[in-house]
Amino acid sequence: MRYFFLPVIIIFILASSALASYREAFEKEFLFKSWGGEEPEVNACIDCHSSDIMKKEFQSVMQSWKRSWHYQNNVLCHDCHGGDYKDATMSMSHQRGFLGTPKYTEVPDFCGKCHIGILRNYLESGHGKALQATGKGPNCVTCHGSHNIQKANIEIINEGLCTKCHTYERAKIMKQALFATENKIRDIDKKLEDLKIEGIYVGDEKRELFSTQAEFRALFHTIDADLVKQRTDDFTRKLNVIDTKIKNSFNEIHFRKNFSAFLMLIFIGLSIVVSLLSKTYKD
Ligand code: HEC
Ligand code: HEC
Ligand code: HEC
Ligand code: HEC
Ligand code: HEC
Repeated sequence: MRYFFLPVIIIFILASSALASYREAFEKEFLFKSWGGEEPEVNACIDCHSSDIMKKEFQSVMQSWKRSWHYQNNVLCHDCHGGDYKDATMSMSHQRGFLGTPKYTEVPDFCGKCHIGILRNYLESGHGKALQATGKGPNCVTCHGSHNIQKANIEIINEGLCTKCHTYERAKIMKQALFATENKIRDIDKKLEDLKIEGIYVGDEKRELFSTQAEFRALFHTIDADLVKQRTDDFTRKLNVIDTKIKNSFNEIHFRKNFSAFLMLIFIGLSIVVSLLSKTYKD
């Protein structure tokens, strides 16, 4: 009978780990799919702009873009500039949707066709209003660059950049509020990874954290220090809820570990008793 249960247990363990890796593959495929799908095999924009015939001042564009976060996420030339990447002779014609190089004041709409929430925050902000009224506000490129755009973080808020047009005081207050929440997010993310290593499914918490983080990071673009402070408090509350859930999961893991150790001890104790008993019986 003993020998019957062993294979059953092994099959069960194998099946559940196969299920977990299937779930991970599924998440990768469908929940975090990158923007444009596969990179097309022929891309006239990239081919022609990489070639030696391109004028010198435009050659750095390709190099910058290849180092960018957009490149890694499959955001290609035509995704921003429009045009037809399949047809080299017509690719930069306006009939094929080519937009050309945006003017300084056109940049927010240019980027905002994909970053919709951020565009909304930006347009309502002091910066967006200043850009529209006087052309003096910073646009997206002022802070992020155009071709070598990297994953954003609060280090973009620095004295060198932010004092180009005004003092640093308000920027500093905002950076401090953002910093506190960002640390908390990083902390929770690390704990979730630890739980995942222990084999606990954390998909739901991950998604919750991810949406909170996205909402939070877009918030900077309001450049409203009071609003950022107030929302930081809200986010901290939300994050604390996730944190409590994580703590409970860890407690459960410890309990289970202690409990199996306890069972193991009882088992060993019983075996000793049984073997002693059988010995005395034989003697
Ligand atoms: C994320 C959007 C984005 C992507 C992707 C992108 N560009 Fe641009 N590009 C811009 C913006 C914005 C400008 C305007 C630059 C500025 O305001 O400094 C620009 C400007 C240019 C210019 C004019 C540069 C100048 O100095 O006048 C060229 C040429 C160009 N892009 C080519 C390309 C090529 C080729 C690709 C693909 C390898 C590409 N771009 C990908 C956003 C993009
Ligand atoms: C056959 C070569 C070729 C192809 C294909 C090509 N380009 Fe260009 N592109 C050029 C050249 C040459 C220039 C420089 C023109 C000049 O001298 O100002 C240029 C300039 C540009 C500029 C800056 C000038 C402007 O009009 O705003 C952008 C942006 C640009 N290309 C984007 C693209 C995109 C996007 C594609 C694909 C949809 C593309 N190009 C396909 C050769 C090409
Ligand atoms: C005054 C500088 C500034 C301007 C102007 C600006 N940004 Fe940002 N952006 C930042 C900073 C700083 C962060 C990082 C905020 C954080 O990490 O909390 C950021 C973050 C981002 C992010 C990442 C947010 C996320 O969800 O992960 C994107 C995307 C972005 N900006 C796009 C844009 C676009 C599009 C525009 C123009 C409409 C723009 N930015 C204008 C400074 C700027
Ligand atoms: C065709 C759609 C598209 C356009 C147009 C576009 N982006 Fe993006 N952008 C993306 C995608 C997709 C990502 C990668 C996913 C992500 O990180 O959110 C990204 C990522 C970013 C990030 C990093 C976000 C992070 O996680 O920290 C910044 C910053 C950014 N874009 C700024 C810009 C700016 C500035 C422009 C205009 C010059 C622009 N984008 C135009 C699609 C676009
Ligand atoms: C290209 C010029 C320029 C740059 C660069 C710039 N700003 Fe501004 N900023 C403005 C203008 C114009 C205003 C609106 C007029 C004012 O309040 O001074 C403004 C206003 C502000 C305000 C007050 C908004 C309000 O509603 O009261 C804050 C906060 C701010 N900027 C933060 C920043 C930060 C943070 C950076 C750096 C990441 C930065 N700015 C970079 C031009 C700029």
